[in-house]
Amino acid sequence: MCGIIGYIGKEKAGDILIEGLRRLEYRGYDSAGIATIDNGQIKIIKSVGKLRQLEKILRNSSLSGNIGIGHTRWATHGKPSDENAHPHSDCHNQIVVVHNGIIENYIELREELIKKGHKIVSETDTEIIAHLIEEYHKNHSFEEAVSLSLKNLKGAYALGILHSQHPDTIIAARLGSPLIIGLGENEHFIASDIPAILSHTRQIIFLDEEEMAIIKADEVKVTDLNGCIKSKTFHQITWDPIMAEKDGYKHFMLKEIHEQPRAIEDTMRGNLKEDDIFLDEVKLSSEDIDKIKKVFIVACGTSYHAALVGKFMLEELSLIPTEVDIGSEFRYRQPLIDDKVLFITISQSGETADSIAALREAKRKGAKVISICNVLGSTITRESDGVIYTHAGPEIGVASTKAFTTQLVALYMFSIYLGRRKRALSPQKAKELILELRKLPQCVINVLKSAEEIKNYTKYYFKCNDFLFLGRGINYPIALEGALKLKEISYIHAEGYPAGEMKHGPIALIDENMPVVTIATESKVYDKILSNIEEVKARDGIVIALANSDNQRIMDIANHVTHISKINELLSPVLNVIPLQMLAYYIAEKRGCDVDQPRNLAKSVTVE
Ligand code: G6P
Repeated sequence: MCGIIGYIGKEKAGDILIEGLRRLEYRGYDSAGIATIDNGQIKIIKSVGKLRQLEKILRNSSLSGNIGIGHTRWATHGKPSDENAHPHSDCHNQIVVVHNGIIENYIELREELIKKGHKIVSETDTEIIAHLIEEYHKNHSFEEAVSLSLKNLKGAYALGILHSQHPDTIIAARLGSPLIIGLGENEHFIASDIPAILSHTRQIIFLDEEEMAIIKADEVKVTDLNGCIKSKTFHQITWDPIMAEKDGYKHFMLKEIHEQPRAIEDTMRGNLKEDDIFLDEVKLSSEDIDKIKKVFIVACGTSYHAALVGKFMLEELSLIPTEVDIGSEFRYRQPLIDDKVLFITISQSGETADSIAALREAKRKGAKVISICNVLGSTITRESDGVIYTHAGPEIGVASTKAFTTQLVALYMFSIYLGRRKRALSPQKAKELILELRKLPQCVINVLKSAEEIKNYTKYYFKCNDFLFLGRGINYPIALEGALKLKEISYIHAEGYPAGEMKHGPIALIDENMPVVTIATESKVYDKILSNIEEVKARDGIVIALANSDNQRIMDIANHVTHISKINELLSPVLNVIPLQMLAYYIAEKRGCDVDQPRNLAKSVTVE
């Protein structure tokens, strides 16, 4: 997973590329580099480490040129090093390439190229692309050389390519990894995603699979790999660039946690009527709906936890059996999928390779596919029959927060929508559920008021080695999500467990050093959770509880209680996850961790 940026126009390319890379750093950050064409010569500057290393080198260099490409890397082939950092060039330093994705047949291609006399200097799969283009360029134009090379590649790529003899052209291409083109006035951009170029332009073209773009300052031509012109539509992006900045918060993650009332409101906006939900982009006809006998939800990471919550919502409100799986598991088993299955993919980025593969498999087997996604024009949305957009805005922190809560809202709305159309829900019941949903943004604001109190008590626990998170029913996935947040950003070992299973194993771990975070808001199994808390206390464990404010017994026995506003149980996960996000954040911050870019993780995992 990497970030790509490119510029051609009248400005100094280097500055624009660095600014773009800064916004893309969340996609990968073990090395970075840029290349420009300056007086007919390719100039490359690259460095292992975070972007600031590259910026330091740039400050002492005189890199000029009005055309360039840049890259921030998350290693897949070859360790993070100066040699393996992109851009990569051919033998004569005439062709230079930045790449996001994985070339699966690079070993064979590399051997063939070495036999032909090419000297390959890095361990990457990317470098061979520059050499392959060089090889074809001996007998073909630059454009043809690129398309012939692309036809030889197996795997996934988004590419930005320059040639020193063509200082007026960037060639971009995509297969399996995202790439957009930004349109300016006598200047054009390429990027892996929208925030990277939003401060320059709002007019965007999304490249599709196996498309190539030949980009000059005053012209963009999109073709297929045979050189046939493709006609493309422009999209006008309405995101505010300030939305992509930190807004005064110390980290993007904290900013994004506090954006949740707005993000939820935006996700609901326009879809709620008094006693029904309208989801125009879902595009299910009444025949499609009549056919549905089963729902299958597939996702990865935090989105998978949303899927687990969604199962409770869908089964209760639409009475349709719902199965949930992880993307990387689903694609290697043989679940029964046919045209009676409604398949839902949940993905913040819309580019997660395992989720895309699952979606394609479900489609191949005849299922209707809809996606819940935060990124307009992403691969998942384009390949789905219908979409519910979460309007969380760009999520920069690697640990997902507002994308998760908006996914839960989308699932809740979709469950009401399906319940009504399957006649499993009366208008009266739908009306009550919608009324509860309308209360949600204010309830989220109330939960966020506990930030200071949570920050305060983390001083007792930030040095702990292990945490246990317990929840039941619809809040069991929230225990999993709380544990995931803590491990992702603080590197503390944490496990999420269904509270009723504690007696079958985890209880052996409990002692005076073990914080046990327990979700104990009102529910069908509230009394049983209370007994679990008593069991932890009886073994000297530390109890951090989430509870509604009217429960005295929890106040008496827990070490800390965060008060949660009362809401319908199906929506309680949205409120309960927020203190767990804050708990993880403040612990990680006290441990001095890199909250927004935790080690070894990437925001969007576009490889298997
Ligand atoms: C990565 C991210 C997670 C995310 C997961 C799925 O692992 O670090 O935060 O939940 O991918 O991503 P998606 O974009 O499909 O929701």
